[in-house]
Amino acid sequence: MTCKSRRSRVFIGVVILVTFYYTFAYFGYYGKRHCLTFWNEEVTPHMFSPWRLTCNQAEEKSRLESFLLRYRNESRVMYHTKKDVNNVPILSTSLTEKIDAIQRMGCDQPNFMCGHKDRCGLACQIHHRIGCLLISYVTNMPLIHTVDRDEWSYSNKWSDAFLPMGSNCTPGKNTYTWDWLPDPNSASKCHNVLLDNFGTEIPYPLSWGIPVTQEFHNSINSLKPKIPDPFVWMIGQFAKYAMRLNQTMEQKIQLWKKEVGFNPENATIIGMQIRRTDKTDEGLDTFHELDEYFIEAEAYFKKIELSQSSGRESLPRIVYLSSDNTTVLEDAKTRYPSWKIIGFHSTLSESLTSRKHGLFEIVRDIVLLSECDYIICGLSSNVCRLLYEIQTYKDFMYDSPHLKSLDGDYDYALKGLHTMSRENMKIWTISDKFAQNCV
Ligand SMILES: *[C@@H]1O[C@H](CO)[C@@H](O)[C@H](O)[C@H]1NC(C)=O
Ligand SMILES: *[C@@H]1O[C@H](CO)[C@@H](O)[C@H](O)[C@H]1NC(C)=O
Ligand SMILES: *[C@@H]1O[C@H](CO)[C@@H](O)[C@H](O)[C@H]1NC(C)=O
Ligand SMILES: *[C@@H]1O[C@H](CO)[C@@H](O)[C@H](O)[C@H]1NC(C)=O
Repeated sequence: MTCKSRRSRVFIGVVILVTFYYTFAYFGYYGKRHCLTFWNEEVTPHMFSPWRLTCNQAEEKSRLESFLLRYRNESRVMYHTKKDVNNVPILSTSLTEKIDAIQRMGCDQPNFMCGHKDRCGLACQIHHRIGCLLISYVTNMPLIHTVDRDEWSYSNKWSDAFLPMGSNCTPGKNTYTWDWLPDPNSASKCHNVLLDNFGTEIPYPLSWGIPVTQEFHNSINSLKPKIPDPFVWMIGQFAKYAMRLNQTMEQKIQLWKKEVGFNPENATIIGMQIRRTDKTDEGLDTFHELDEYFIEAEAYFKKIELSQSSGRESLPRIVYLSSDNTTVLEDAKTRYPSWKIIGFHSTLSESLTSRKHGLFEIVRDIVLLSECDYIICGLSSNVCRLLYEIQTYKDFMYDSPHLKSLDGDYDYALKGLHTMSRENMKIWTISDKFAQNCV
């Protein structure tokens, strides 16, 4: 074999390889223009190229971004019509208006079904439904809230306690479906996907936190000292929206407050959420003796007394105690006779099977606890995490949390693969650089 023919064979080999590479880079999913191959811009975009066989975050992110770019211009228009967003309450209102506006976009738009198929407790239910609202907000798709078709442990309906949420649309050809529990057929190997009738697959829109427009991001940043944690603030806003009370419920709560003398305007009240019955199958570190709660409460009262100008005034010790086991309430009254202990007899889960009676009670307890000056609970529990979120839009808008966790730190925990890691608990904007490559 001559040296010359070997060289030419190598040369031809290189040419073939290079041609292959460029063709692949242009049409395939490795090239600069790969975003064009994910979707076309019909009513519902369709996926063209197959997913990789392993979890590839960069791929998932660019698929997500190219999908979210559909409404980039429209989103901007919606924000331009807003008044100056120069303080926290106005930003909050403008966010609520945006959520509402999306629900009214019309049923001919792509929309999606979302709820939660699991018999978990109310706060867990609310956290997943907050997720549904967030997906609606992020994707600009009206939500078809499936709560009346979901598995639901309570004998009362969602709408007996809260205002209905989402749009009035019914599922059609332009309807995607979301399911929190991991779908074994999910195309992305990182998360599961939103699916439409044509098999279009949108990656989980909350994979890296909450994508927002540049304008919204700027507004939050300009309010930075007042919104120290934009992610928790955002979750709080969606909790606020999800938990708008039915008027009948609101009246019931007012009556309950009167009945037990719950007056947070008049006195410093510390809330305690003490879980018992449904903690038995979880780790022992989530069970806390009554005394642990009272030691924390005493420390807080002392701190307030010291910070008061006279430094001598003694505060009455008042707590609102919420527990799923009535024995806890009785115990507390016996062990701390000099304290005023407010609470209701619990019928909601003396056993888990009777939980179905307890929707109103757990809603009442969440509302009352959220109005306390300080809460002692365990962030391992959904109720405690929800309270942590609610505090960002109630009395502690600027200095939340007013809460002591006896176990763990805050996270946004959801079923399946969707719990957010700490580094993803943030808001982010879709990259303009990417947009230029795509349009
Ligand atoms: C956004 O709007 C501009 C003009 O208003 C238009 O040229 C551009 O194509 C639009 N981009 C997208 C992604 O729709
Ligand atoms: C509010 O709840 C009551 C039951 O407590 C129910 O009859 C009513 O329809 C609900 N209102 C709305 C707007 O859903
Ligand atoms: C304070 O408490 C008293 C009775 O203890 C009550 O009459 C009054 O309405 C309360 N004030 C507020 C603002 O709740
Ligand atoms: C409630 O708590 C008491 C005392 O801790 C315990 O003996 C009882 O079994 C509990 N009830 C339930 C239903 O878990």
